[in-house]
Amino acid sequence: MKTSRRTKHLPRVIRTVPALRRAVANFRARGGKIALVPTMGALHEGHFSLIGRARNRADRVIVSIFVNPAQFAPNEDLNTYPRSFDADIAALAELKVELVWAPAVPTMYPAGFATRIVPEGPATAGLEDAIRPHFFAGVATVVAKLLIQCEPDIAVFGEKDYQQLKVVTQLARDLDLKCRILGVPIVREPDGLALSSRNRYLSPSERQAAPMLYRALKECAGKIASGAPLDAVLDYGRKAIARAGLRLDYFEARNANTLKSLTAPSGEPIRLLAAAQIGTTRLIDNVAV
Ligand code: PAJ
Repeated sequence: MKTSRRTKHLPRVIRTVPALRRAVANFRARGGKIALVPTMGALHEGHFSLIGRARNRADRVIVSIFVNPAQFAPNEDLNTYPRSFDADIAALAELKVELVWAPAVPTMYPAGFATRIVPEGPATAGLEDAIRPHFFAGVATVVAKLLIQCEPDIAVFGEKDYQQLKVVTQLARDLDLKCRILGVPIVREPDGLALSSRNRYLSPSERQAAPMLYRALKECAGKIASGAPLDAVLDYGRKAIARAGLRLDYFEARNANTLKSLTAPSGEPIRLLAAAQIGTTRLIDNVAV
């Protein structure tokens, strides 16, 4: 019967650490690999692609849904961050996710919580961290907790947040976590705009202008690959984005592994990274050269 088949695949939603530990121990006892996909919910095809990768690489998939207050500054959109828990669970049921880890804020940060992981290296590259100084300590602290709580063999992150992916990879290495960090390519709309939970804030005219960020990145990556001088290309890209009515936070070419400024452009793998505001919405994106 249709209903009972559906019910069978509903993910189990767990909200307390002891229940999570029991469920993970149970997975472990039955063998096989566990993958974790950390999210803040408001799930879209970008998240689903991470879950697809997790599914291919592991026997059990845990998706965490937690809007992490520690990575929002007081002036940011914590209170209005999109939340669609029931729709998320329905989508995760279709994807046959076994377990959803959805702690409340006081479960993640109980009264008296007093520890913070402050990452360096890629976290101080002068990109997102220059605009959102609080951000990576918030991300590193919550991701470390999620990895310790869920004990996955693999954790999957999107290249959409390229600096975050590098910060988390460094964190797992530095803290000797057993977990392997996997990066997954950016999922885009047909016109190139990177999918994001925040895209639903865009007005029709903002939505129309938003793909310019990707177009400029793509065009500049092509120019750099064919040998055009870096400074001139970046200047061209910055102007193109400003002309489209976006207010640029940064538009940078960096070493794709370390995120350091380029020293000798010859031979280094290059990533172009950008962030811009359109209306009240912030877009971030990046491309490989
Ligand atoms: P969130 O913005 O929900 O994103 C969860 C994961 O989905 C991240 O790894 C992000 O890079 C990935 N993702 C988002 N949009 C994507 C797209 N269009 N294509 C591919 N991957 C995409 O990033 C966070 O949450 C939080 O910082 C978190 C890591 C959960 C810590 O709180």
